[in-house]
Amino acid sequence: MENLISLVNKIQRACTALGDHGEEGAMPTLWDSLPAIAVVGGQSSGKSSVLESVVGKDFLPRGSGIVTRRPLVLQLHKIDEGREYAEFMHLPRKRFADFAAVRQEISDETDRETGRSKAISTVPIHLSIFSPNVVNLTLIDLPGLTKVAVDGQPESTVKDIDDMVRSFIEKPNCIILAISPANQDLATSDAIKISREVDPKGERTFGVLTKIDLMDQGTNAVDILEGRSYKLQFPWIGVVNRSQADINKSVDMIAARRREREYFSSSPEYRHLANRMGSEHLGRVLSKHLEVVIKSRIPGLQSLVSKTIGELEAELSRLGKPIAADTGGKLYVIMEISRTFDQIFKEHLDGVRSGGEK
Ligand code: GDP
Ligand code: NA
Ligand code: MG
Repeated sequence: MENLISLVNKIQRACTALGDHGEEGAMPTLWDSLPAIAVVGGQSSGKSSVLESVVGKDFLPRGSGIVTRRPLVLQLHKIDEGREYAEFMHLPRKRFADFAAVRQEISDETDRETGRSKAISTVPIHLSIFSPNVVNLTLIDLPGLTKVAVDGQPESTVKDIDDMVRSFIEKPNCIILAISPANQDLATSDAIKISREVDPKGERTFGVLTKIDLMDQGTNAVDILEGRSYKLQFPWIGVVNRSQADINKSVDMIAARRREREYFSSSPEYRHLANRMGSEHLGRVLSKHLEVVIKSRIPGLQSLVSKTIGELEAELSRLGKPIAADTGGKLYVIMEISRTFDQIFKEHLDGVRSGGEK
């Protein structure tokens, strides 16, 4: 199954390389039917921190105020061995082994598009991480929802962010990580509000409660985490990310995860929930869910891929020879991927028919 998710990732990358970001144009239907996971929530609710923990790497700009100002489409690729590295779509020949440099490049590339103001842009940054220590996932980091434009931002910013977030999460293939901070009233959660609008039955929304360590003395999040305050289809998952002080002191991910595990297993109020709390648990849950979604979509995806192969073949013969090396090369790559994908579908369906579990 890992294999199938990995192929979905490859197709997504090939679509993007072909200039299809899911908008009108080449193969929008294929892109739209592939699952991805987006984080939504208010500003500084901990979205970027949650994504970093799921990935298990330090590479995203985080902090108070509006830090994430462009969508970041992040694809995780599990490799069998070797050193991990990252690649940006806008820098195709450059491999980043240093994740601090990845963070810097996200920040620089944001500024290139928006200037150094606090303006936002809807143009995504595409980043791929190749590592033996990740599960195959496509994740989208989004700017935080706000109530007021801050200095230097155009008045339209609040609505622009809202529209942008919606454009990602209203797609039925989008799995929503709705991030709410535990130190604010859940009734005011932007994440819950917007996700309920696009996914009223909660069929593709996972509630994540951050900042549990920052709650007022004498209060706790047990009612929320046990689904009594606001019931979601899937169980709530609580996390403890690094604080700003931790970031300033460069507390690393491994130490942060250990501390998070200890936090849940040693707190009397959360101990009974410890095995379904924390970032590592969240990563596993998401990966499992993605598998279920992909399995359920296999028949639909299969016919779509076959149709796409047909369209590509028609396109190739229409272009005739000589094909511009670039276009021809890309079409060739995506056709190869589509064929492999098709093959996997067939194998999987055979497995289902013969009652075997893959
Ligand atoms: P975003 O704006 O939603 O992407 O939020 P960030 O991930 O940038 O986090 C905003 C600030 O909150 C940063 O200073 C983080 O260190 C801090 N933060 C996020 N999650 C937690 C948490 O679970 N506990 C604590 N103590 N701080 C957190
Ligand atoms: Na922030
Ligand atoms: Mg952020």
